[in-house]
Amino acid sequence: MVGRSLISASELGRDQYEYLFREASKFNKSRPLLGKIVGLAFFEPSTRTYLSFETAAKRLGASVIGFQSEASTSVAKGENLGDTVRMLSSYADLIVMRHKFDGAAKFASSLATVPVINAGDGKHEHPTQALVDLYSIWKKFGGIDGLVYGLLGDLKYSRTINSLLRALDKFQPKKVYLISPPQLRTRQEILEKLKLPYEEVSKVDEVVGELDVMYVTRIQRERFPDEFEYMKVRDSYRVDQRVVQSMKEGSVVMHPLPRVNEIDRRVDGDPRAYYFKQASLAVEIRMALLDWILGGQ
Ligand code: NCD
Repeated sequence: MVGRSLISASELGRDQYEYLFREASKFNKSRPLLGKIVGLAFFEPSTRTYLSFETAAKRLGASVIGFQSEASTSVAKGENLGDTVRMLSSYADLIVMRHKFDGAAKFASSLATVPVINAGDGKHEHPTQALVDLYSIWKKFGGIDGLVYGLLGDLKYSRTINSLLRALDKFQPKKVYLISPPQLRTRQEILEKLKLPYEEVSKVDEVVGELDVMYVTRIQRERFPDEFEYMKVRDSYRVDQRVVQSMKEGSVVMHPLPRVNEIDRRVDGDPRAYYFKQASLAVEIRMALLDWILGGQ
């Protein structure tokens, strides 16, 4: 972690991840952030991330200021990102930021006088989603090591995948299968830094019976430079009941949400469907993170 900001999932070490998981699971401090102000600067759409950060901050006793779309800020009048960040950092004690540009959170942290948490920057990273994901796995399996993971979908443009891979790399997964159509494979710049054992495959059927965790992502349509390229891959994978029934008992299907059509809704009733529980765990782990950064320990 640089200056207590959190820009990339690779900035946290294994000990810090595990500290946050333990804190999140037994959080019992009463309003430790009373009097603090958390600024939520969301220049891109969000439902869960925005609302779970807002809920987490309020449960800790902090107040929240912010916006949920660029259209409602002076950026719509031509103000640049730097000026918006400077202003916000003089109002809030911490900034949680989401932006469509890769590197926006890092840029913001170089200008802000308060910590910045990256809540998603373009196709780059979403480190607090990785915290939610690993925390959910830790709650279910009691740890992260030794499991077989299958990351399925748009591995090229999905920032949650990048952050999850960088976070998993701090642990010892038995194997990570990267499952995607050839056009949507994980970018080389991410792969070349990983130490974990991974294998790229193109069809989930090849590995489904081995998986403890299947992590599905939607196709990130808004990040495709060309709509035609999106059309070529848009229906290239789908997790339905047949796929899930080939998974081991006790395994889980995860998804950062929102889902479009990549998981059939009939899967929701399967005991392996874990994505709504995963979304619900976001509040307590974000509470642990905010308290860790702002609580002065
Ligand atoms: C993700 C994101 O914004 O990257 N959403 C989220 O925060 N849960 C995933 C996505 O949009 O596909």
